[in-house]
Amino acid sequence: MESLNVGLVGMGNVGSGTLQILLENQEQLAQKLGIPVRVAAVCSRSIASRELPAAAVGVDRYSDWRDVVGRPDIHVVAELIGGLQPARELIETALSHGKAVVTANKELMAREGFSLWQAASQAQRPLAMEASAAGGIPIHSVLREGIAGDRVVAMAGILNGTCNFILTEMEKAGRGFHDVLAEAQQLGYAEADPSADVDGLDARSKLAILATIAYGCGVPAEDILVEGIRRVSDVDFNYASQLRHTIRLLCVARMGQQGLSLSVRPTLLPKDTILASVSGSYNAIWVQGAYGQDTFYYGRGAGPLPTGVAVVSDILHAGRELLSGRENRVSPYSFKQLTEYQPAPPETFRQPYYLRFRVENRFGIIADLAAILRDHHIGIDAVGQLPITNWRDLPFVITVEPATEGEIRAAVETMSQLDYLLEPPLVMPMFAGF
Ligand SMILES: NC(=O)c1ccc[n+]([C@@H]2O[C@H](COP(=O)([O-])OP(=O)(O)OC[C@H]3O[C@@H](n4cnc5c(N)ncnc54)[C@H](OP(=O)(O)O)[C@@H]3O)[C@@H](O)[C@H]2O)c1
Repeated sequence: MESLNVGLVGMGNVGSGTLQILLENQEQLAQKLGIPVRVAAVCSRSIASRELPAAAVGVDRYSDWRDVVGRPDIHVVAELIGGLQPARELIETALSHGKAVVTANKELMAREGFSLWQAASQAQRPLAMEASAAGGIPIHSVLREGIAGDRVVAMAGILNGTCNFILTEMEKAGRGFHDVLAEAQQLGYAEADPSADVDGLDARSKLAILATIAYGCGVPAEDILVEGIRRVSDVDFNYASQLRHTIRLLCVARMGQQGLSLSVRPTLLPKDTILASVSGSYNAIWVQGAYGQDTFYYGRGAGPLPTGVAVVSDILHAGRELLSGRENRVSPYSFKQLTEYQPAPPETFRQPYYLRFRVENRFGIIADLAAILRDHHIGIDAVGQLPITNWRDLPFVITVEPATEGEIRAAVETMSQLDYLLEPPLVMPMFAGF
């Protein structure tokens, strides 16, 4: 092999960032791999109208991905189009043509990644997916190699830059969710349809991938408890601040005696913790190992160049594997075989919770709520209420002592029957560590 020939399919955010790095950083990439890394082809459906960098002058352009994966001189195909189909078909076809494959596709890898790895394994070709979770943070390599000698006990991460941007703006400026979301859309930080981000689905796919790599079990993303940030309001930041906390969309994985507990939900974090200081579109992951204890990873979770770095690093990794000629490829999931996912029962872990109510004011509300909590064996930690400005829509907060998810859910279900509640209580865990 005189050069490692690469075909990039998808010329959007990630594809264009990847192309820029491959063209600009050619010299150093060749020094690292030992042979040049050459972009042989780029593809997107609208390639004819796309402006490419001047340095892409000799690069062939295609509008049909089949033309890229079928080219005999291409060694590595990067799938950067996203979605389930035709991305899956593209990867399978590329593998069957003997190509190594690199992908940034979290949705596909969270759902069907392990079967694609089996196909890659059979084809004896590398499959790499570093960019699929936490974009610019090399957390896959860390879990797969850097701390592979450890046994991961727990992880907590901020994995969606759009939500983190919205929440930190709400906190800084005391603004409402919809106002900040509109600005994020204008700035290009949020999609026109923001549901994948603000409803926690994007973070859920990333957590499914990271948990699979960390624990070696096939985690179905749809089994993860997910709550988005739509219900978090400026009032919650006000109360959280009085409690010396802030609010972030937190992804948590914890291994217990009886199984794995996974959740993505808005969470109160003490202001003096490192995770609470992660602002704007940044991501971070805290990993706790049984032996190495705590490690923390921070960086850009998305964006053309940070994600492009992850894709290019995977291309180098694939190139090294192809050059070494090994038949037993390194699994992108770290584990050779995955075990069955064993979810922890909801009574496994105890943690304090923040409950925010909106009520039409009347006598006896606190007494009613306290009685329900008592009946579910949940102790009250504090009750907070800002000065009343509207008797017909009064927000107030109860924080409770550590309880299980099952106890809290049962109590909140009973509370939701109360006729003076304007909406079901907003429940957020208060996370202070594992
Ligand atoms: N954006 C980020 O920062 C980021 C971070 C980490 C991971 N990712 C992942 O990276 C992938 C790409 O994301 P992105 O933000 O770059 O998306 P994007 O900006 O929407 O770009 C997608 C590209 O794929 C092309 N495309 C779509 N379907 C195609 C098809 N059937 N054949 C050929 N080309 C096709 C699109 O162009 P045409 O419409 O012209 O075909 C476009 O060039 C996704 O899996 C995403 O989850 C993104």
